[in-house]
Amino acid sequence: MSPVQATAPGKIILFGEHAVVYSRPAIAAPVGNVSAKATLQPLESGHPFRVVASDLGQDYTLSEAAPDNPLAYTVHSALAYFGYTAPPAATLQVTSTIPLGRGLGSGAAISTAIVRVLGQFLDRSLSAAEISALVYEVEKLYHGTPSGIDNTVIAFNQPVYFIKKQPIQRMMVRQPLTLVIADTGIVAPTHQVVGDLRQRWQANPTRYEQYFDEIQDIVEQARHIIEGGGDEGGIILGQLMNHNQQILEEMGISSPELAQLVTAARRAGALGAKLSGAGWGGNMIALTTPDEAQNIAAALQAAGSKGIIVTKVKAADQD
Ligand code: MEV
Repeated sequence: MSPVQATAPGKIILFGEHAVVYSRPAIAAPVGNVSAKATLQPLESGHPFRVVASDLGQDYTLSEAAPDNPLAYTVHSALAYFGYTAPPAATLQVTSTIPLGRGLGSGAAISTAIVRVLGQFLDRSLSAAEISALVYEVEKLYHGTPSGIDNTVIAFNQPVYFIKKQPIQRMMVRQPLTLVIADTGIVAPTHQVVGDLRQRWQANPTRYEQYFDEIQDIVEQARHIIEGGGDEGGIILGQLMNHNQQILEEMGISSPELAQLVTAARRAGALGAKLSGAGWGGNMIALTTPDEAQNIAAALQAAGSKGIIVTKVKAADQD
């Protein structure tokens, strides 16, 4: 029997991370340059379901996995959703080129690939909304109070304007956006950054609600430009990214390493730059013209970035 395979992309948050947990809107896009892959190899009946994720140092049979192991939890949830009480005889192999714990959605992408491959294997066609809902349950294991933006943008594989608990709004990107993504190399668990911010919000709700409102304003302006285009669109979007970064810094979400890369990108001529995702480490993004992308990538490398991706958020009518 031949194996079945499924993939899922990484993601970046263009505007609105963290505020999105507090029901403000955010904008995110998939990053197809990196992906998670799940392969299911059927075995002779009687064999146990085995999970092999060498990148994560995991290799076990499903029955011996801890109940809160995210990969096993994903498999159990998907099988339960399909009405299976026992797993099929198969080996699930999971690999990923998405750096772990760096704000690029590695957890949600791995879960999405697993749900997809199980659906294919068991001949169950799943809508993106169903996949997203299943992955959201797993996301709760990773960081307690997820907004749901990661599973949404990854399962739908489209740029989204997202508000927690509201139906997905796909974005009609007018002009393609060229972005350089640079990795600080620092792993920052989302649940810690989100939890720390929650404590500061509880201690001073007025101040933090004001930050979230300011971010909401930035997101609305950015949406207008991304969907409307215009000659100065890139310049204004860059300024909005810088403004979003400034608020994230005031909120305590940035880090010296992120700030260093942001400064390097701006000095090299980026239209704007900000952290992307949970912060404290992970990745930053710089908006650029296509011609300047390689210069900015080189400047980020020289400033100490541990990994660079040049990517494009495509216009709605592009393949
Ligand atoms: C993580 O990719 C984005 C955060 O806003 C958390 C969330 O939305 O759940 C930091």
